[in-house]
Amino acid sequence: MLTFEDESTKAEMPSIPGLDGPLQGLFKDSHTVAASDATDEQAIAGSANRRIAVEDKQIINCNADVNQLVPFKYKWAWDKYLGACANHWMPQEISMSRDIALWRDPNGLTEDERRLVKRNLGFFVTADSLAANNIVLGTYRHITNPECRQYLLRQAFEEAIHTHAYQYIVESLGLDEGEIFNAYHEVSSIRDKDEFLIPFIDTLTNPHFKTGTLETDQQLLRSLIVFACIMEGLFFYVGFTQILALGRQNKMTGSAEQYQYILRDESMHCNFGIDVINQIKMENPHLWTKAFREEIAGLMQKAVALEYRYAEDTMPRGVLGMNAPMFKEYLRYIANRRCQQIGLDTLYPNANNPFPWMSEMMDLKKEKNFFETRVTEYQTGGALSWD
Ligand SMILES: [Fe+2]
Ligand SMILES: [Fe+2]
Repeated sequence: MLTFEDESTKAEMPSIPGLDGPLQGLFKDSHTVAASDATDEQAIAGSANRRIAVEDKQIINCNADVNQLVPFKYKWAWDKYLGACANHWMPQEISMSRDIALWRDPNGLTEDERRLVKRNLGFFVTADSLAANNIVLGTYRHITNPECRQYLLRQAFEEAIHTHAYQYIVESLGLDEGEIFNAYHEVSSIRDKDEFLIPFIDTLTNPHFKTGTLETDQQLLRSLIVFACIMEGLFFYVGFTQILALGRQNKMTGSAEQYQYILRDESMHCNFGIDVINQIKMENPHLWTKAFREEIAGLMQKAVALEYRYAEDTMPRGVLGMNAPMFKEYLRYIANRRCQQIGLDTLYPNANNPFPWMSEMMDLKKEKNFFETRVTEYQTGGALSWD
């Protein structure tokens, strides 16, 4: 199902006059190359030599040289890049020894808690690879602004760190790797979520896909909304809440700490994606039609149903003081929030947040975290000590 052959390298590269070899195309984005006749090529060559002004920059369909980071136009993107770098962390910095002891203890966790952990990892071990591939092979090519691309490069590395973290937990606990890494094929509640996402990712990774028309610009915007508001902004939240709930009960504290760092990263990914979406809307108001808005609302409702099914599957009975119906309310609350953030009407009147403690988990800059294992502010890996 999820195959990501890097077809992008096979895509036709643009031909820039006077530049041959592998560097040709470096100075222009692929979609500026729709121009193939001589007149257009001369126009491209002319603008390539001109100094870039702030007003030349656009998030999509921009003709300005994507290799010039400054002058900045989208300071919010650069600030998020700096913030993400300041939050750097690595999975090995977190001690897993208590988790290992608890997992090995036959009385350490209930069967429901073990199922929850395995189902949870079963989704996440492949989800972040999906996210990374979507950025590197898809989104990156179509976002024609260097400060946004700078953030996307950082985000792609963070997705690699997240996949590493999930793998590190699986390995630490000695789980059956075949079972966990194949869950996205074999567990229907996980497979359904991924199958919902794949068409929107495929759109952007298709080497023949180019923005520049109403239809393709809407396709890009739709895929960006699905990725930021549904995948990173909704599909991750049952899983995050479950593992952090374990941590709050002093169980699987190393895993919970890993998830806490991931949650912090993901909330920034989601916010960055929303800023990009709103900026594209502002620069291209003709894309935000009534039919388009209705379609997005429908996708959001479908996603809530899929994520709720995943909640039921991972928690067939109440566990850790939580149960699936609480998540129905939570998912509706989150979906309303995502709709508001991109300027859509809310879908579920009066939905409340049954897990207010989750919002505290995202902002932990200077305080000692709730497991008291280490200070959560940034430190270089070499400076960490577990004694
Ligand atoms: Fe991630
Ligand atoms: Fe992410």
